[in-house]
Amino acid sequence: MQRYLALLLLFVAVVNAHFQLQFPPPRGAFDEDNEPKFCDGYNTPAANRTTFPLTGGFFSLNSEHPKWTAGVLVSSAANPTSFNNFSQAVSFFQLEGEGAFCIPLDFSANANTTSFQNGQNITIQIVFDGGDDTLYQCADLTLSNDFKISSDVKCSNATGSSAGTPSPSSPTATGASGASSPTQSASAQGMAMSLGVVGWISAIWAIALTIV
Ligand SMILES: *[C@@H]1O[C@H](CO)[C@@H](O)[C@H](O)[C@H]1NC(C)=O
Ligand SMILES: *[C@@H]1O[C@H](CO)[C@@H](O)[C@H](O)[C@H]1NC(C)=O
Ligand SMILES: *[C@@H]1O[C@H](CO)[C@@H](O)[C@H](O)[C@H]1NC(C)=O
Ligand SMILES: *[C@@H]1O[C@H](CO)[C@@H](O)[C@H](O)[C@H]1NC(C)=O
Ligand SMILES: *[C@@H]1O[C@H](CO)[C@@H](O)[C@H](O)[C@H]1NC(C)=O
Repeated sequence: MQRYLALLLLFVAVVNAHFQLQFPPPRGAFDEDNEPKFCDGYNTPAANRTTFPLTGGFFSLNSEHPKWTAGVLVSSAANPTSFNNFSQAVSFFQLEGEGAFCIPLDFSANANTTSFQNGQNITIQIVFDGGDDTLYQCADLTLSNDFKISSDVKCSNATGSSAGTPSPSSPTATGASGASSPTQSASAQGMAMSLGVVGWISAIWAIALTIV
């Protein structure tokens, strides 16, 4: 009986996948159990805000789902405590693939955020749905009109395949999506696939160890 329970728990752990905001850094360390909650369960802004450009910015995340929908909410409240305090900064879009993704986040290109100013504090909330729960992570930012995100910050997509229409609020998305060379995305896909195989092999090992 206990063995079956362990197996079941393992299965739940495998299917209950999540996402991790990579850049800008989230409010607090990724908290898997709280990700279905407002701001991943972190209810006060980070003391150290990340400087972020008003124009030409991006956010990046790691997806653990093969097909997912995401969008970005934004609030200019000093301490947003409710979804009512947010408006939409990046419309919901759908993508396919697990691994790293990097999406344009340009406050000067969206009617809801064109009034944002140099030096202003804002909070973004990434909303992600891979088919189980709706998941949330927040990042607290200070906007700057002459800031460029360091080239050390990784910005690439694990797969080039888009399952849905790019966000109409970020016209750069359509232009950039075709930019990666086919050979590059093919090898990235191959890597993602072999990582998937490694994941399954370790899962099978874990099952075997539980049974023995
Ligand atoms: C804030 O600083 C702490 C401690 O240095 C660090 O762990 C955390 O990632 C920082 N958070 C942000 C949003 O930069
Ligand atoms: C922005 O937030 C920082 C840190 O939380 C704070 O020190 C600063 O006064 C805030 N700036 C404005 C314009 O509210
Ligand atoms: C945030 O939303 C709550 C709940 O609707 C509201 O009471 C509060 O006034 C809002 N705060 C700001 C700064 O808009
Ligand atoms: C602005 O925010 C509202 C409320 O979240 C949303 O319905 C609307 O689509 C947003 N507008 C744009 C251009 O994204
Ligand atoms: C990743 O894909 C999205 C959606 O097609 C696109 O908007 C974005 O520009 C791509 N990022 C990179 C770095 O190519």
